[in-house]
Amino acid sequence: MAVARVACPVLIGRESELSLLEDSLLSAIRGEGGVVVLGGEAGMGKSRLVRELAHRAERLGCAVMSGTCSEAELSLPYLPFLEGIGNYLTRQDVPAVRERLGPAAAELGQLFPQMGHAGPVTADPMMSKLRLFEAIVLLLTDAARSRGLLAVVEDLHWADPATRELVDYATRRLRSTKVMMLATYRTDEMHRKHALLPSIQTWRRSGQAQLMEINALDAQGVKAMVTCIFDEVQVSDEFRDFVHDRSEGNPFVLEEMLRDAIDHGDIFRTDKGWDRKSVHEIRLPATVRETILQRLERLQPVEVEVLSAASAIGLTFDVATLAAVAGKPEAAVALALESCVTNQLLEEADRPAGRYCFRHALTREAVYEDIVATRRQQLHARIAEVLESRPDWRAVDLAHHLLMAGSYEQAVGMCVAAAEAAIAAHAYRDAADLFERAIPHVKDAIERGRLMCRAADAYWNNTETLAAKALLEHGIADLEAAGLTVEAAGHRLLLGRCYWELLRTDLAREQFMRARDVLETQGPSEALAVAYIRLSGLDLFDKSGGGGLEDALRAAEIAK
Ligand SMILES: Nc1ncnc2c1ncn2[C@@H]1O[C@H](COP(=O)(O)OP(=O)(O)OP(=O)(O)O)[C@@H](O)[C@H]1O
Ligand SMILES: [Mg+2]
Repeated sequence: MAVARVACPVLIGRESELSLLEDSLLSAIRGEGGVVVLGGEAGMGKSRLVRELAHRAERLGCAVMSGTCSEAELSLPYLPFLEGIGNYLTRQDVPAVRERLGPAAAELGQLFPQMGHAGPVTADPMMSKLRLFEAIVLLLTDAARSRGLLAVVEDLHWADPATRELVDYATRRLRSTKVMMLATYRTDEMHRKHALLPSIQTWRRSGQAQLMEINALDAQGVKAMVTCIFDEVQVSDEFRDFVHDRSEGNPFVLEEMLRDAIDHGDIFRTDKGWDRKSVHEIRLPATVRETILQRLERLQPVEVEVLSAASAIGLTFDVATLAAVAGKPEAAVALALESCVTNQLLEEADRPAGRYCFRHALTREAVYEDIVATRRQQLHARIAEVLESRPDWRAVDLAHHLLMAGSYEQAVGMCVAAAEAAIAAHAYRDAADLFERAIPHVKDAIERGRLMCRAADAYWNNTETLAAKALLEHGIADLEAAGLTVEAAGHRLLLGRCYWELLRTDLAREQFMRARDVLETQGPSEALAVAYIRLSGLDLFDKSGGGGLEDALRAAEIAK
């Protein structure tokens, strides 16, 4: 028998959390905005709470934007902002927004083509990035101009580096605006080396962002949830304690557990309403993952096949893509999806039509992790093929699936293309990461050396000097070993700047001189002029006097 989905229709508890969030929202509407960061374990109810706040914000006439970070290992830079702002813009009179933003609109053109044409990339990457961030802040404050704005960034634990940086920037820039940014993250993902952890610690120490955590529901909360789900049932203290104990007060686990108990006939419907076996007879799987997997066992093989393919695509997917990946007619896939919806594994997405999403990230994770490794690889390879045949494919998505498929040679090209797109969006750290994902799979020493130097450049533009230096040292060695000394000399100029930045002017000088010596053999060039400018600058810096003027004159001569 198909049983109604087990989901709690009303928000249970969370009164104090909600009132804190509402206070922050009201402050924002008064012009004292800022960033609130909401942490909690997976399934604890962060998104649910955020949804409730968003409803209240809308009732107050406040604008609401919402975007989610992707669980895929590689994702577009600024993804939640692309989603949130992108959806917001579809509801706006774009020329009017452009007009109000003035020159900042053009800065946004790189991320939102409807906002105008991105200007030429200027010489200073850091400045370009700041101008982009500032333009985004301006757009948010514009959206907030009448009744404030709630900007939601979900699942920050999965954020790409540029998103993390932008949220950090927002903590400093939204204070006296009407914007409340609300970011959520899973506390149970925060292992010692997680990239988000330093930001969380800094925000906590400095008070730059307001940090909040939601914890497990208490026994009363669990009882209220069970009562709400079954609408009518009398919940005994014994059953309350049993469910509280087994779910540990985690609402997602609780819903999944109850679903499981219904499927097993441990909780059942009678003429008089819901009834249950005694708690001693109720068998519950040890983990929530097991409850989800048990549900898979009750599906038809074709349904499992479709669901597995979907889990490799991601949290949300459309029927047409899934049908192509699974190699089945769309009608058959749609039927299988319906069964998965009934079994509380999937949900239909709000819009557009034909899109589905996993009921929860934890559901996708359980299904995905249950696929054997070779099958997973095949699925990702097929997904890459299908995506590539679409007109709107994105390098970063293909890079992700090709890497997961183990198709490393093809993945390299896509990683590089995605890195180039990231650089154009001033997401230098994202670019560096993408180059670094490609490097181990490049067999050719010259190509590898070049990629190392490009990755170094991206790190340098992100003011990560140590990482840039280490990559340059290797990259230059590879290029020189292959006889490309002139090309390597160009990179020595950047290596010299790294040493200089690290206050090793002796090593910096050595690099500039080595570059100069090689480049001199090639006749005048821009790089040679730069070598002299650096040497001259270094002389001034060191106050060694010496060749400062001579080097500067030589640079000018070459420039002529
Ligand atoms: N306070 C609550 N009252 C009723 N239902 C709740 C409550 N909190 C969470 N739920 C339900 O529990 C499930 C999980 O909640 P939610 O998706 O908000 O978790 P989450 O913390 O965002 O998890 P994740 O870290 O995986 O994103 C949802 O079905 C949600 O509706
Ligand atoms: Mg969530």
